[in-house]
Amino acid sequence: MPSTLSRDSTGCQGMDELLSGGLPADRLHVVSGPPGSGKTTFSAQFITEGARRGEECVYVTMHETKAELVQDMSGFQFGFEKAIRSSNTTFLDLTEESARQSLTKYGSAGGLRNRLPAMLAGLDADRAVIDSTMLLDHFVDNPEEALTDFITRLKGTETTILLVSEMTDPTAYAEEHYLAHGVVFFHNYLDGGGMTRAVQPIKMRGTPINSDMRPIEFTDRGVQVYPDQDLESTYG
Ligand SMILES: Nc1ncnc2c1ncn2[C@@H]1O[C@H](COP(=O)(O)OP(=O)(O)O)[C@@H](O)[C@H]1O
Ligand SMILES: [Mg+2]
Repeated sequence: MPSTLSRDSTGCQGMDELLSGGLPADRLHVVSGPPGSGKTTFSAQFITEGARRGEECVYVTMHETKAELVQDMSGFQFGFEKAIRSSNTTFLDLTEESARQSLTKYGSAGGLRNRLPAMLAGLDADRAVIDSTMLLDHFVDNPEEALTDFITRLKGTETTILLVSEMTDPTAYAEEHYLAHGVVFFHNYLDGGGMTRAVQPIKMRGTPINSDMRPIEFTDRGVQVYPDQDLESTYG
């Protein structure tokens, strides 16, 4: 039976096909992987696709300024700079006091874990990227307890959310993996003499998925997924 979930195109070549048409809309998807595996690039592609479609987009980070992110993505041709500067896109660098200040209008109690979800609802955001869960470690007293509450509130919004979580051990599942509607792993590991890059949908509630690892590549259009190839034929 075909799935009736509405889907959002990811803007990443091959990824929509891998996910049977895109990411289920209005849901929370965790993107996990080690440093350099493609999480931020994929997230930038996702926001760019939303902006291109005229959707209300939010990009929250504590890893880089807007200028740094634009610079990092300038090696790709998918149009991130135009997207992030469009009037439908809100960029928040939470290392800036002014960004944290701008959130206070969305509620005074409970700090970030309340205000960010309230901001998504207040803006009626269609898509959001939150890069990464580590922001709770910086801005919240008890990050572990706050994470459950934060994710529950995010799931309650009508925004399709990518929540980035840094991960070095792909066998160690974390709380966000259990709580999310969807989980996609990015892999980048040493195999033989070279690095193998792959993507792997781990779960996607409400829709069947193939959880095999599929090869990915960085091209001038960002992350490119090869949904019909297996790792053997690519790297074997
Ligand atoms: N044209 C390119 N422009 C920028 N980065 C590129 C390019 N091609 C390959 N890369 C690599 O892509 C990686 C980007 O990873 P990134 O998306 O930031 O991963 P993560 O967020 O998981 O740490 C970097 O390691 C960078 O070296
Ligand atoms: Mg990153």
